[in-house]
Amino acid sequence: MSPEGFGMTSDDWPLHGGQPGPLLARFGLAEDMPLLDASANLNPLGPPAWLAGWLAQRLQGGASAVARYPDPDYREAREAIAAHEGVAPEQVLLTNGGAEAIFLAASLQAREQPGAPAAIVGPTFAEYARGCSAHGLSTRTLSLAPPDFRLDPEALVADLGAARLLLLCRPNNPTGTLVPRAAVERLLELTAAKGCRVVVDEAFVDFIGDAREALTPLLAAHSHLLLLRSLTKVYTLPGLRLGYLLADSETVQRAAAGQPAWSVNGLAAALVAPLLADRGFARRTEAWLAAERPRLAAGLRALGLEVVPSRANFFLVRHPAGQEATRALLPALLRRGVLVRHTESFAGLDGGWLRLALGDAAANDRLLAALGHVLQQRKPEPKKGRVR
Ligand SMILES: Cc1ncc(COP(=O)(O)O)c(C=O)c1O
Repeated sequence: MSPEGFGMTSDDWPLHGGQPGPLLARFGLAEDMPLLDASANLNPLGPPAWLAGWLAQRLQGGASAVARYPDPDYREAREAIAAHEGVAPEQVLLTNGGAEAIFLAASLQAREQPGAPAAIVGPTFAEYARGCSAHGLSTRTLSLAPPDFRLDPEALVADLGAARLLLLCRPNNPTGTLVPRAAVERLLELTAAKGCRVVVDEAFVDFIGDAREALTPLLAAHSHLLLLRSLTKVYTLPGLRLGYLLADSETVQRAAAGQPAWSVNGLAAALVAPLLADRGFARRTEAWLAAERPRLAAGLRALGLEVVPSRANFFLVRHPAGQEATRALLPALLRRGVLVRHTESFAGLDGGWLRLALGDAAANDRLLAALGHVLQQRKPEPKKGRVR
């Protein structure tokens, strides 16, 4: 028998983290229950402290940033990103979050090679399949296997079939694994020979930490490579939305043709330069990662959980007793006020893992304490000695 609340199809589960409502309802809990949200992968240090004042200033008076159209070319924002990435402004397309960048890449592909199928390296973020399907592209998931989810470029490309678009997430959501740059380079050589475009979503690139192995220098030699970025994760702006796409300038121009005018709001666009200039925020983020990521990983392992080594701000974990024991942790944690991310909607994981967001020190302590409690409760009763 499945544990409580699990007799549903994967379609019934919320598709993204940060959506407590349906889960609270499913497990019969109050909708306004206070929760620690370890289900959405955002930087606990953000948004930067200056943001509230910055926004307030731009909302004042007749010259308010909301009372005029943004520059449709977003020149200032693109120049700031180009300087930050070491590319030309023509290689940058500003987008309404990384999510729009995914849909624009799919739209570009659908216009240029209509009907050609796409391949997605899984298990991964659901928006790649949604973006492709919205543009009439069929998709096939090429699943990497646990526990290390290692990518072998030769094997992957041999399995591409007729695919003319390959989508890869690096570091990957939800595994946290990072395909080494050398493997991406090999993938680019092999896919060039097949005429297959490669889209690498680097929404979590700012959380990699040391040895980041940037892919940006590869753009110069590989016109079939597109890099997608999100600024909403690292600066904690999911409600404002900011992202961008990097590619060679011709590809960027063609991708831009699929984007509605003024897709990025003027406030978000004006924010790009000050965000990227805030080196103090980046340094604090790096210090938090260096301290908390190994500490949470060690804490989770000490509780007996299997933890996939992560280069992102989240961990994929499972209970050593298997899928049902792992699944049962979610409602047990929710009852203790901790929301974690299910994996029911990730093909290949099928609920047998949980994704836990890395929080600040206090949040990580609370997560570990709640997990310690529910794991202790699940331990089998020790056999009682005979009573004389
Ligand atoms: C891998 C990946 N790419 C892109 C996005 C979308 O990010 P944004 O909020 O910038 O649209 C997400 C959000 O969860 C994600 O996990």
